[in-house]
Formats: sequence, C-alpha cells, structure tokens
Amino acid sequence: MENKQLQKALQTLPENLAGYLKPIVESDSFSATISALQFEKLMSQANLSDKQLRLALLPLAASYSISPISNFCVGAIVRGLSGRLYFGANIEFANSPLGQSVHAEQSAISHAWMKGEAGIQDITINYSPCGHCRQFMNELNTAQTLMVQLPEREAKSLQAYLPESFGPNDLNIDTLLMDDKPLAHHINSDDRLLNKAVEALNISHAPYSGNYGGVAIKLDDNVIYTGAYAENAAFNPSLPALQVAIIQMQMAGKNVAQISAVALVELKTGQISHQASTQSVLDALDLDIAVKYLSI
Ligand code: THU
Ligand code: ZN
Repeated sequence: MENKQLQKALQTLPENLAGYLKPIVESDSFSATISALQFEKLMSQANLSDKQLRLALLPLAASYSISPISNFCVGAIVRGLSGRLYFGANIEFANSPLGQSVHAEQSAISHAWMKGEAGIQDITINYSPCGHCRQFMNELNTAQTLMVQLPEREAKSLQAYLPESFGPNDLNIDTLLMDDKPLAHHINSDDRLLNKAVEALNISHAPYSGNYGGVAIKLDDNVIYTGAYAENAAFNPSLPALQVAIIQMQMAGKNVAQISAVALVELKTGQISHQASTQSVLDALDLDIAVKYLSI
C-alpha cells in the first residue's frame, strides 16, 4: 500500500475491525470508499452499529489529511444516496492564502459528487463542523435532510447545526449542489485533458457567477483526475475546481508532486475567472506547470 498514513491509521483500530478492513483497504482497487455491502458486512463481522462503525472508520479518513500549516488532521465520511461511503480529509497549501484550503467535509462531499453520487444522506466528522462547512453543506440538494454525526454525540440534522440559515433560496436559486445539471458543452479539440475538463464543467455548480468550470489534472502515470467547481450562496465557501480535482487524486492515493499537466475550462459568459488563482496555487506548489486554459 502506498499511503503510509493509512497503514498507520489501520493499526490504531480495534484488532478485529482492522483484520476485517485490511483486505478492503489493501486491495488495489480501494479508492477511499466503502460500498454499502462491504459496510453491512463489516458491521456484522465487527459487531458494531452503523454509527459505531462510521466513527471507528474516521481515523482512516483523517489519514488522507495534508496539513503542513496546522498539523491538524480532520477526517469526514459521507454516505451517498446509493449507500456507498466516501472518505474526505482537510488539505492545506503551504505558500498559498488560507482561503485556498479544503475542509474535510468539502473533501468528502466533493469526492462523492465526482464519483457520481446524486446526494448525501449523512456525514460523520471527527471534529465539529466549522461555520464555513455548515454553510457549504447548506448548498446541497439534501441540505434539509442531511444528518451530522460527531464522536460522543447524538446525530443532529444540518439544520439543527445551522439555525436561521442563509442559502440558495435567499438568492432565488433552485438548482442545488449535486443536482443533475442539463449542461452539455463540448469543444472541437482532440486534446484529452481539455475534453476531460469540459466533462467536469458540465457537472459544475455556479448559479451565482455563471462561471461554470472544470479542471483536469494529468499525473506522471498518465492517469487523469477531474474536478468541478462548486459555488456557494455565501460566495466565500465556494470550492474551486482545482481543489476538487486534487481531492480526487489524493483519495486515489496519489501525490501532488506527481502532477504533470493541468487544464482549466470555464465559460466566457461567467462574471469571474479562476485562471489566475488556479495558476497561483500551482505555482505555490512549485510544480512549474502552465495551466492549459480555455474559455468557451
Ligand atoms: N478544518 C476542517 O477540515 N473542517 C472543519 O470544519 C474545521 C477545520 C480544517 C481546516 C484546516 O485545515 C484545519 O482544520 C485547521 O482549521
Ligand atoms: Zn470547516
């Protein structure tokens, strides 16, 4: 297994649970997700309740954290509408503004979104979700039913954590994060990376600025990861497409040092642009990569 932190986290789990998890986590096809069937099996094998098992898995999710600034590892696990569970962890960028950081909750949610989930049932986190994450989650199409589980707490709804909330409704927006989008943009190019970025653009959520956008990242092993832009009614908690793509590669056990090319495609009609900020995050990573940019 490539991820040493994951290996370490596995060793901290109760012995019987670690034993049952090992073949799943060490399999080549493991991608920081657990199927509903695997989860049910684990519950009965380790004799844990649904809540107990999700809480027990948190150290595995947190092991994906990249936190060079805080050394504070946050892990989150979301359950998609399909029943599959997705890990997420916080990601910090040394040499970039703190606003470029990804919170564990955003990571797990965008992980599930990019892997095709159409909504989130519940989220389990090892620390209380900050105000920014509560706001980020209020953009979801399942914001009215989403349950939040913390260690040593009863599960509570997102709405209980975010009373008198501000949200898409206040701006008369009714297309929500993770809703199926009718976007079908395409480009006349045989550049694979740009085409992948357009695919991501087509699922992006940008009803406020109109800056629908997607990023595709190619690694040194030629595998491509994509990220769609996820905008928020309160603007600042929006998650850039580059970060979403980095989450996908991080959850696949890859390293940002492996990035060999990056493409960003966004709409000409958008009122903002991520071209400069995408380039500056990459520059701060010292990757010496010029973003391939297209506005369509
Ligand atoms: N963090 C989260 O990932 N989620 C929260 O809601 C609380 C804060 C992360 C962000 C940053 O990487 C570190 O914890 C310190 O704030
Ligand atoms: Zn947060």
